[in-house]
Amino acid sequence: MAANPNPMTVNPNKALWEKGDFTRIAESMRESGEALVRTLGITNGLKVLDLGSGDGTTAVPAARLGADVLGVDIASNLVEAGNARAQSLGLTNLRFQEGDASDLDELEDDSFDLVVSIFGAMFAPRPFDVAKEVVRVTRPGGRIVMGNWIPGDPTLVAQILKISSSYSPPPPEGFVSPMTWGVEENVIERFGAAGVPEEQISFERDTYVFNFAGSPSDFLSEFKTYYGPTMNAYEAAAADGREADLHAELDALFNAQNASPSKDATSIPATFLRVSVAT
Ligand SMILES: C[S@@+](CC[C@H](N)C(=O)[O-])C[C@H]1O[C@@H](n2cnc3c(N)ncnc32)[C@H](O)[C@@H]1O
Repeated sequence: MAANPNPMTVNPNKALWEKGDFTRIAESMRESGEALVRTLGITNGLKVLDLGSGDGTTAVPAARLGADVLGVDIASNLVEAGNARAQSLGLTNLRFQEGDASDLDELEDDSFDLVVSIFGAMFAPRPFDVAKEVVRVTRPGGRIVMGNWIPGDPTLVAQILKISSSYSPPPPEGFVSPMTWGVEENVIERFGAAGVPEEQISFERDTYVFNFAGSPSDFLSEFKTYYGPTMNAYEAAAADGREADLHAELDALFNAQNASPSKDATSIPATFLRVSVAT
């Protein structure tokens, strides 16, 4: 299977997302996922691919609106969690399978009306291959919608990733940061190489709100315990004797970003780049 063609080697991209339990973070993103899906003009029977779907924050609401949805994700635990959600919700028009956004060889050309990837495909390696694959599986006259975090943005996720990287060893040579998907010129270049002219790509700033029934410090504990990238940052910082510094920086960030009037509840808005592509 494309997600790990050689089972004897570890795929670091897959290992990162199978680490911990991203469903714990996804729970805080459900309302924004539903709100985003309501803007997608979903109609009964629309064929939708949710790429980097996790356990279905956007795939579930798309299926509830009547679309025929396939969620593809590199993490087998999240595919399993997504299928369990679909089953418990009685959504027979929704299923999840394992796959790699950089190489969707199990999916045929022109098979979807709409490809959605909210903070999903941006984390796959080889961004030019990702753009090529996403365009290949979308039918002519279809649409692609991506949500990408923005490098240098002052809001939560960009700052978590920025702080974490300053406690982590430098990435391997040739590594392309996922955050580069949050820069318009890169998106235009990548889809351009996949044959989509610039006039068919549009951008807007949008907001996701992370809602958690606990304090911002408790919410940070969820990231520390369950979110692969943050778990790795804590491990790297601990190896350097700097775990307390990392924790203090992240704790200050989470508390400063909290917009909830209650100290015991967390509501943190985060800005992202919404990319819309007409194929
Ligand atoms: C931040 S999570 C977002 C999940 C989901 N879209 C949501 O909004 O809750 C990133 C997701 O991308 C998936 N992912 C990372 N690299 C991938 C790849 N190469 N191919 C497919 N999915 C990938 C991860 O397993 C994870 O589920």
